[in-house]
Parts: sequence; structure tokens; C-alpha cells
Amino acid sequence: MWKPETDFATMRCLTHPLLKRLLGLSPQCVPGGLSPSKVPVVRPKRSSLRQSCSARPELVTAADVVSYWQKVFETNGIPEARESSEYIVSFVLGAKTFQSLNSKSLRTPLTAAQQEQIQQLSHKRLERMPVQYVLGEWDFQDLTLKMRPPVFIPRPETEDLVSLVVEEESRKCEKNSGLCFPVSVPHPVILEIGCGSGAVALSLLSKLPKSRVIAMDKEEAAVDLTRENAHRLRLQERIHILHRDVSYNSAEQLLLWGPIDFIVSNPPYVFHEDMASLDAEILRYEDLDALDGGDDGMRVIKTILALAPSLLKDSGSVFLEVDPRHPDMVENWLQAHRNLPLVLRAVHKDFCGKPRFLHVQKQSR
Ligand SMILES: C[S@@+](CC[C@H](N)C(=O)[O-])C[C@H]1O[C@@H](n2cnc3c(N)ncnc32)[C@H](O)[C@@H]1O
Repeated sequence: MWKPETDFATMRCLTHPLLKRLLGLSPQCVPGGLSPSKVPVVRPKRSSLRQSCSARPELVTAADVVSYWQKVFETNGIPEARESSEYIVSFVLGAKTFQSLNSKSLRTPLTAAQQEQIQQLSHKRLERMPVQYVLGEWDFQDLTLKMRPPVFIPRPETEDLVSLVVEEESRKCEKNSGLCFPVSVPHPVILEIGCGSGAVALSLLSKLPKSRVIAMDKEEAAVDLTRENAHRLRLQERIHILHRDVSYNSAEQLLLWGPIDFIVSNPPYVFHEDMASLDAEILRYEDLDALDGGDDGMRVIKTILALAPSLLKDSGSVFLEVDPRHPDMVENWLQAHRNLPLVLRAVHKDFCGKPRFLHVQKQSR
């Protein structure tokens, strides 16, 4: 039987070009999934790092510290021990990855303050905190976003959801060519349902400079983080952030800029029965409502589809990230709701070859 942890682990650990950067550090990738109560956390003593590496603390290098914490993580059953250690050390040294540190940084002894900071962050990882929360930031496409528990950590496959919207917008533009460039540049209105940290909404704003985005989420922590990230990235002028639970009655509030070109969502889509087998990192730190899609994983998906016709322009599109079992289920649901002027245009695969993204389009009647 398909299990989310197996699926997510496979998804992230095979072929994606960003493999090295992302390996295991998206918490769903962590294989194993020890239950929280069984994680054997054996804490090293605060002073043990410096003592074990050298009698003279000033001679501890980045490489020494990476090896040291890798061993501690391994001893404690922390997944992706090497990568976790490398990310923490690089972060403290002001780099994104260990590989990007130059030889001088690698050779220069760490200061006592740096060692202390590494130790503090590593202790959080020992508690199975995802690296993204440990560092307090993570990259999504070209953006560096603030991360804070329990707001959902954007997963690497969701970058492709953004690309699908951008591609569709360029296709529309080419189809109407002559109208779009250089005289009239389109100003697409996009709605993101379930914005979390703002990763999708802000990437779209950054990739489509004339677009405007309405970003909504039912969690205040998510809405606050999206707002903070929008300001940090100076994208706040083109985003309207709403703290709302999406429902069949949401249409009026969401039409503030008129009919919408694209609805995009990475909704909660894990089948409820699969929730318990998610990894400790997820179960302990992330908002489980961000993942739990109800018995069939379709609770929010169905609301979005039912709402879409009253929000979209004619030929407007919905782009959804879903579970690989959902494309057939959505097709059947649309067949059973023929009153809705929606058609499943395409199913796109993720970087592991699993059907992951749906393009549903509104048909003019
Ligand atoms: C899987 S997360 C996606 C977050 C972000 N879009 C991303 O991809 O990183 C789903 C988000 O939907 C929000 N959400 C869940 N149910 C919702 C509802 N009924 N109305 C609005 N937002 C909802 C959750 O709070 C969560 O932030």
C-alpha cells in the first residue's frame, strides 16, 4: 500500500536536479519516521564539542564541527545527519551550502561564539526540528523566505506548481501576441488558497511582475508569515492577504479585483488515515491541518473546485497540487458535477514521475 513517508522519501531522493541542496531536509523526505516518543535523544554535554575537537578551542574548523555533529546526529537517529550538520554550520558562517564555502572559510578556526551558535542550533535538530525551522529561513525558487513553526514548510516539488502557472500565462500571452507585448502587458489576477509562508504567492509575484495576488489562509500564523515575507521581499504592494477559511460563500470577498485569471493551491491533501505515519519532524512541528485533507484527501480540493466557476474569468484556470491518487478522483468528481463549467485539461507529473499537478479550466458556456 502507498504510504506518504515512502512516497515523499522516494519523491525527493531520486532524480531532482536540486537533490543535493534539498536532500532530506524537506521533512517529508526523511525516511524512517520514528514516533516522537521513541526518538532516542542523547544530548552531548554543552562543553563536549570543544573538548573533543581540540584542547584549544580556537583551532576548531568548520570541517571538524560538521563531522562532530554528523556523528552526534547519527548516534541519535537523526535523519540526514551529514546534510543537517552541513546546513547548520554553513548558515552560521553566512553561506547557503557547505560546498559554497571557500577554502579560507573552511580552514579558519571558528570563534567561540560561532561554536556556541552551532551548538544551540544543533540541539534543536536533535529534537527532530526540521532544518528549515532550525535556520529560520529557506529558499523557494529564487526567494529566501522566513520559516517559523507551525507554518507549513514549502516542499521542492511545489516549485513546479509555480512554473505551470507562469508557463500558462506565457502561453496565453503568445496566443494573443501583438496584444501583450510591447503595447499591452497583461495584469493577471491570481488567487492562492492556503498561502502558508507565502512561497507560491510571492514567487508568482516575482516571476510575473505585472500580476496581483490575493493570498488567503485560515491560519493567522500563516497569514502573518506571508505578510512578513512579502515586506522582506518588497512585494507587498501587489499582494492582498486575507485571513479566511475558504468556503462556498467566499466568492464575494475574493472578487475585490474582479474576476480571476488563475486560482492556485497546494491544499491539504494527505488522506486522513495516512497522517499518523508521517515523520516525526512533521508530526511534532508542522500544523497538521496544513496536510490533512480528510478521509479522501479532497476536503479543500472540492471546495476550491465548487467555488472556482464563480471566481474565474472565462477560460480561467485552477492549478492544484494533489496526491497521485487524486487525478482520477477529481475527474470522477467533475463528471458527477457536470453543472460546474470545469474541465480537467491536464495532469502534470512531479520530478519523480508521479501525477502531482492538475490544470482545471473554466469553459465558457
Ligand atoms: C500544504 S500547505 C501549503 C502552503 C503553501 N502554499 C506552500 O505550498 O508552501 C496548505 C495551507 O492551506 C491552509 N489551509 C488549510 N485549510 C484551509 C482552508 N479551509 N481555508 C484556507 N486555508 C486553508 C493551511 O493553513 C496551510 O497553510
